[in-house]
Amino acid sequence: MTLPPLPLALRFVVVVAAVVVFCIIPVVLTGCYPSSSSSSSSSFLRPLFLSISPISLSTATIKATAATITTTDSSPSTSTTAAAHFGVNTNSDKNSQDLRVEDEDEDDDSIPQVLLITGATGRLGSKLYFELQEKMKKQQQQQYQNQQHHNPIVEVRALVRNITKAREVLQCTHCDASEGIYLGDVTDPTREGGLMTATQDGKVTTVLIAAAAGIATSPTMIKAIEFDGVVNSVRAVAMNAKSSFLPNVVLCSSMGTTQLPDTNGSGSGGHGGGDAFQAILHWKLNAEAFLSSSGIPSSIVKPCGLDDRLDHQNYTLFSGHFDQPSSNHGVTRTNVARVMTEAAGMIMRNRNNNNVPHHRFDLCSKPGPPITDYEKLIQDSRWEWEK
Ligand SMILES: NC(=O)c1ccc[n+]([C@@H]2O[C@H](COP(=O)([O-])OP(=O)(O)OC[C@H]3O[C@@H](n4cnc5c(N)ncnc54)[C@H](OP(=O)(O)O)[C@@H]3O)[C@@H](O)[C@H]2O)c1
Repeated sequence: MTLPPLPLALRFVVVVAAVVVFCIIPVVLTGCYPSSSSSSSSSFLRPLFLSISPISLSTATIKATAATITTTDSSPSTSTTAAAHFGVNTNSDKNSQDLRVEDEDEDDDSIPQVLLITGATGRLGSKLYFELQEKMKKQQQQQYQNQQHHNPIVEVRALVRNITKAREVLQCTHCDASEGIYLGDVTDPTREGGLMTATQDGKVTTVLIAAAAGIATSPTMIKAIEFDGVVNSVRAVAMNAKSSFLPNVVLCSSMGTTQLPDTNGSGSGGHGGGDAFQAILHWKLNAEAFLSSSGIPSSIVKPCGLDDRLDHQNYTLFSGHFDQPSSNHGVTRTNVARVMTEAAGMIMRNRNNNNVPHHRFDLCSKPGPPITDYEKLIQDSRWEWEK
């Protein structure tokens, strides 16, 4: 039996009823109409509708929701929590994680030390390298015995000009970055593999500068090494440092910088020693002035004449200012390396938000019992108003 066709008017009523039931009522219940009122009945009914509706939130919806929470609330912890709650890995989430890591750094004031030596294959630089390696190993042994260090040395890096020399002098095997050895030149800071490469991971906490010109170096290169080289080294480590940490610098300069150059060449006045020697002292003094005004925690060691033949069992070290100790005996490079090592440790121990440690002192020796308290030696150089 077939039903008679519905009259046209009835068909229209059925269509309208269907539109009302399937289109208009759900839209009203889900609040899809643009509405500025949050207290409308549609929004009041929405949770109920969602709970009974087989609607599943798509990933896109979750991302949009997480993004909305992240952007409307600038608090990193809230956005991280919200995104984590939704299991969403957003860029904002990454930024939040970065911030959180920095917060942790700030909370924990223990800073692992990574030290970089320039001129590491030189006579002083190599002693400094082994002195610091020795200190690092000692600290590691003490840590095995549960003796913790506040700022443990975790790596000693060396900037060298010649890999063959590095192999001989520093006893490295691969003599590359895997062993903390970087091939570079302080006068060419952007050279691939050199200063920038050695500092670009932002981990270097201290640069110890032992790169130096010699008497046979040309005037142009004396300035490039003794002055520009210091600026380049400081700039590399400071610009690559993590934002929350200002690195330290220990510079080996020289005593004799208060003396006027021997301008008439008679050898009777000033520090004499020839043009190259005078130029070295001139640029060293400029490097000291630069470092002193850099805002970087630093120690400037100004040794008397270096003499490794001195038997340091029978010499005592002392510190001073304005070349007053100059009439006394020189020092061994071993002792200068020990003092520079101590200076690096002291800067780390003494730095805090209100204190940018800075020492600058002459270092000489005289006959007497050897000293072991290098910290006292450096403290003795403080000005009377600092003591
Ligand atoms: N001699 C003294 O009586 C006396 C007195 C007071 C102060 N000082 C100072 O004490 C410090 C150490 O003296 P030292 O006799 O031990 O020095 P050194 O043996 O001559 O060593 C100098 C180091 O600097 C490196 N170097 C030179 N030019 C460089 C560049 N462009 N880039 C990177 N590295 C470079 C050399 O590299 P290579 O190894 O590849 O040659 C060498 O390793 C110097 O600052 C010196 O001025 C010396």
